[in-house]
Amino acid sequence: MELKLKIILLLLLSLTTILFICATVRAGEEVEYLRPPPRKAFRLPWDPKSSSQPQQVHISLAGDKHIRVSWVTTDKSSPSIVEYGTSTGKYSYRAQGESTKYSYVLYRSGMIHHTVIGPLQDNTVYFYRCGGEDPEFQFKTPPSKFPVTFAVAGDLGQTGWTKSTLDHIDQCKYDVHLLPGDLSYADYIQHRWDTFGQLVQPLASARPWMVTQGNHEKEYIPFVVDEFISYNSRWKMPFEESGSTSNLYYSFDVSGVHTIMLGSYTDYNDYSDQYRWLKADLQKVDRKKTPWLVVLFHVPWYNSNEAHQGEADDMMTSMEPLLYAAGADIVFAGHVHAYERTKRVYNGKPDPCGAVHITIGDGGNKEGLARKYKLPQPEWSVFREASFGHGELMIINSTHASWSWHRNDDDEPVRSDQVSITSLIGSGCSSIGVMN
Ligand SMILES: *[C@@H]1O[C@H](CO)[C@@H](O)[C@H](O)[C@H]1NC(C)=O
Repeated sequence: MELKLKIILLLLLSLTTILFICATVRAGEEVEYLRPPPRKAFRLPWDPKSSSQPQQVHISLAGDKHIRVSWVTTDKSSPSIVEYGTSTGKYSYRAQGESTKYSYVLYRSGMIHHTVIGPLQDNTVYFYRCGGEDPEFQFKTPPSKFPVTFAVAGDLGQTGWTKSTLDHIDQCKYDVHLLPGDLSYADYIQHRWDTFGQLVQPLASARPWMVTQGNHEKEYIPFVVDEFISYNSRWKMPFEESGSTSNLYYSFDVSGVHTIMLGSYTDYNDYSDQYRWLKADLQKVDRKKTPWLVVLFHVPWYNSNEAHQGEADDMMTSMEPLLYAAGADIVFAGHVHAYERTKRVYNGKPDPCGAVHITIGDGGNKEGLARKYKLPQPEWSVFREASFGHGELMIINSTHASWSWHRNDDDEPVRSDQVSITSLIGSGCSSIGVMN
């Protein structure tokens, strides 16, 4: 009797095990790639060695043939000078810049230096040092002509996944990094801006980093601190050089590409400064000189993830017609922690004269991935996946570009999406270059 019961129990147990295994395998078939969980913060000690030692060095494009070098020193009297030249240890040139600092509740920033250097030769390696102090850094200027390659990754943060993404970008051959918002995830803890600066320094001191702001840059405390104070102090972008009055939106030309950085968290309605600036900037675009038109902002207009649905509807209503009339080729956004690529699209429908929209908020921040997608997949959505990774946009010539997305498979970069994109130049689409 007892034995019989045991056998029955054993049989039942085996059966459930088998059923369970089958179910797991089936699920495994449906989900071909198992997304890894978020990783812990990548902790860098925040302990500046000597007070005038330059730290958090990063560079950005600052008008034709010029680069802005930015760094931080804890020593408030350290000079804002950059010495530079084309061979190591020999600094034939020297430029003087400016410095700023900010306080944030109890936090006092170090001295933040911004020094514009140039004119520089195209596609050339320069060696430089900041504030008259070692170490020596080096960067390469972008080429004047095609091909030119952009690395793209948004919503970076500073976790183990961020480190993985940065390592993969470091392995690729690229000229300029584009970042559609959400940099440090300091989230009010100001020294995390400093550790982020240290984390990205190896890359951001070697290639221009062109960034725009996301919601994590706001850090607004009513009546206490203004919004974007840390971001604007540390990540000064070429807004003056592009006729903008705000660091939150600007544009730049690089090797035949006109790139516009917009602000999702500043006014965008038809009467706003940003709208007026965008309209004027688009009118100035000469597609003979810059056949490609690329736009970045934080909150995606075309997004079929469950996360952040509809958040950019107002901005899209206001600004999409401007970009359409100007023939924008590619729009990058972040915010949604996943990857998605659309067809050329306009006004919610596939349109051969609209832009390709790419959401690439998958740099690896602490909040993890946005895994849920809306069903059915909208007809404009071509590829969507919730994994961490980065993108590479290689502009081959005035009409052809190659876009690829590289997912972090554990710690290996794996090219998971690739498409060739042709520019709207010569497409017969409306009024390229003839805006009113
Ligand atoms: C641009 O590159 C594409 C792809 O390599 C090539 O087919 C095309 O002929 C090139 N066009 C010009 C004008 O060089």
